[in-house]
Amino acid sequence: MKNDNVLKDKSELYFPKAELKEWENGVRQYCTRRNDTEVLISYVPPGVVVDMHQHKEAQLGMVISGELMMRVGDVERILTPLDAAYIAPPNIPHGASNLSDKEVIAVDVKRYKTEENYTAPEDYFLEVFKKKDLLPGMEVTFFVEDWIEVMLADIPGNGGEMPEHRHRNEQIGICISGGYEMTIEEYTKTMEFGTTYFCEAKETHSAINNLDHNTRSINLFLPPRYNKKKQRKL
Ligand SMILES: [Fe+2]
Ligand SMILES: [Fe+2]
Repeated sequence: MKNDNVLKDKSELYFPKAELKEWENGVRQYCTRRNDTEVLISYVPPGVVVDMHQHKEAQLGMVISGELMMRVGDVERILTPLDAAYIAPPNIPHGASNLSDKEVIAVDVKRYKTEENYTAPEDYFLEVFKKKDLLPGMEVTFFVEDWIEVMLADIPGNGGEMPEHRHRNEQIGICISGGYEMTIEEYTKTMEFGTTYFCEAKETHSAINNLDHNTRSINLFLPPRYNKKKQRKL
């Protein structure tokens, strides 16, 4: 079935299969990648310290569940679910500790492109830029930095949808609750917790939630669609 293999490979470009990395300190990471961008979903057991380290890739991350003490450069802050994102620009040391008695789940994105300039807020933590209802029941929250935009989006159940469209921005997304059907070009995948999609510039995409409850995802846009200096209307 040669044809099926071709289809399967193309689909894995948009919806790469996660690779599991298990670290000695007990952290488990599900990693997906397309080109220069890697998405990591990390499970950090209670009491575990992720040592300070640095790399040439910029890293942005958020906590999905639990509470994580995050350190970037000499700034330390407790991150709670989806309240803020941290950015560790290239070669800036960063690390984390789970000081709680519950597992932490976090999403991190690592990326390096020579032509991009990886800025960060002065204290490395990115606050909510704005919140709004895109459609009734479709609440969205934006975090914006010069090179990246994070959009937390709910899609209502019973057929709520983001109609097919395309744009010049790269778009990457991670399902963090519920589930939905995501289509990129002609390939459809059922998104569930942790499933990640990668959509390059100009690739058509759409989403529909056929469940009877909301679904939530973290979506990244590179470059951002909004300029954080000029608070343009969305
Ligand atoms: Fe890192
Ligand atoms: Fe889009």
